[in-house]
Order: sequence, then C-alpha cells, then structure tokens
Amino acid sequence: MPRAELLARVADADALIPVITDRVDDELLEAAPNLKIIANIGVGYDNIDAAAARRRGVVVTNTPDVLTDAVAELTWGLILGVMRRLTEGDRVIRAGKWNRWSFEFMLGAGLNGKQLGIIGRGRIGRAVAAKAPAFGMTAVFARRERNGATGEAAAPSANIDMPLDQLLVTSDVVSIHTPGGPDTRHLINRKALARMKRSAFLINTARGSVVDEEALVWALGERLIAGAALDVFEHEPQVHRGLLGFDNVLLVPHLGSATRETRTAMADLAARNVIVVLGGQPPLTPVP
Ligand code: DGY
Repeated sequence: MPRAELLARVADADALIPVITDRVDDELLEAAPNLKIIANIGVGYDNIDAAAARRRGVVVTNTPDVLTDAVAELTWGLILGVMRRLTEGDRVIRAGKWNRWSFEFMLGAGLNGKQLGIIGRGRIGRAVAAKAPAFGMTAVFARRERNGATGEAAAPSANIDMPLDQLLVTSDVVSIHTPGGPDTRHLINRKALARMKRSAFLINTARGSVVDEEALVWALGERLIAGAALDVFEHEPQVHRGLLGFDNVLLVPHLGSATRETRTAMADLAARNVIVVLGGQPPLTPVP
C-alpha cells in the first residue's frame, strides 16, 4: 500500500498488520489514534519504532519461531550455493559456455572440516548451528558484547563461543543472524572484512544494514574474502551495482521466510495476536 494511502486508512484502525517494508513511525502512529496493536508479519521489527508505540500504549508483536527453520534452511542453501558455485554453474550452462568435463573446471570449496562462525545467537543462529554437524562443520558463536551488538543472549549450549574478532579471523564461513537496527548497523565493515580469511565466505540472511555493502564490494575487489551470499540488502529492493559484477557472489531477493508453509504461519500468528489483544488478552508474541 502506498504510504499516503496507508496513512489515510489507519485513521480509524484498531489494529495494523504491517509487513517489514511498511515503516511504522511517529507520523503513522499520529495518524492512527485508535490503534491498540501493531502485529508485524516478520520476526525482525526494525521497520517499527517500538519505543514510540510503547509511549502511546500500543502493543507491538512479531512472528518469531514460525520462520526459524525456513531461514535456517535458506542459509544452508546459500552456504552450499556459494561454496559449490551452484548459481555460477547454472549461468555457465545457460550461456552455452560448458563444452566438456574437465578436471580443474569450476573448483569450489568443500564444507567438511570447516568452521562456521555465527554472529547472533538467537533462534535462527542456533538453528543454523544445529545443522552444521550434518555437513561436518564446527559451529562457533560470536560472544555477546555488552552493547548487544552481536545478537541475543547466549543460551547454554555445547557450541564454542569466542570474541567476534577471533571468529572473523578463524572461520571459513561467517553467517549473520543478528537483529537489524542501529546497534548492529555496519557491524561488518572494512575492518571486519579485512580480518576474515581470504578463503572465507560471508553469508547474510539477517538484515542488509548489518553489512556495509560499499566495504563488501571493496573487500571482494581486493580478494580479501572468497565470496558472499546475500538474501538481504542495505537499500532493498536496490542492490549495490558493484555486487552484480562478481561471479563469486550469490544474490537472492529476501527469501529467508519465503515458503508457503512459513508465510501462512506468519500471517496466522499475526492475526491471532490481533484477535487476543483486541479481546483484552495479553499478546502471544510481544516484542521485547
Ligand atoms: C523477517 O521476518 O524478519 C524476515 O526478514 C521476513 O522474511
């Protein structure tokens, strides 16, 4: 819905079910004096000024849990895709550039025995880690820093955790699973990219704002990392033009939760939050 139409239509709304591209800010809250609940369809809610909603007594909910597996599955798809050069191989065939099998053609990187560094120890980060043994990889987590910059609170687990810098220096794959927003903006910048192994891959299925795309283009150009696979971008739906020129970059259009089952469950959970809150009950999944 275009912004102007949204602002006009919330005038007498009791509830709003936005998607992650709808900005819910002071202006919108001002235009919606009857609003009692904002039930975001998405686990990330950096599109919502939750503090402003709280000040007005408006409940904010999100859709955790129901999309954890879908995002974790896509993350593994991206890891396999970029390390084994799947989309690149597909492009080679479609371009008619595959003439014969050859011993050294399109060699990728194996997963077995490698270290997967996970930044963000929330539900999705943990679900990605849980699948690592199936590929013979060791998952390690970035230790949470005081300002919360590396993700949600650590849960007791057998997995190793380490300072972010050590994770960057030692991991073969670095996968981002933090929330978006000001605390994590450009957490992966020039300095962080320069700390990664030249043979390492960067994966982002969290929020585009966590990675400084300009810095990523620089790091790829300097061959400071081996490749990247991105589901999210700083200025969606725009993608930094510099990324388009690299064969070792796999790009997908924010598909993390995009399965029929998951999107149905997300919409259902948002609707149930509205029903209970308008019925005077506590929300099912309030944002912290
Ligand atoms: C979310 O829920 O935050 C996802 O990014 C939407 O697919």
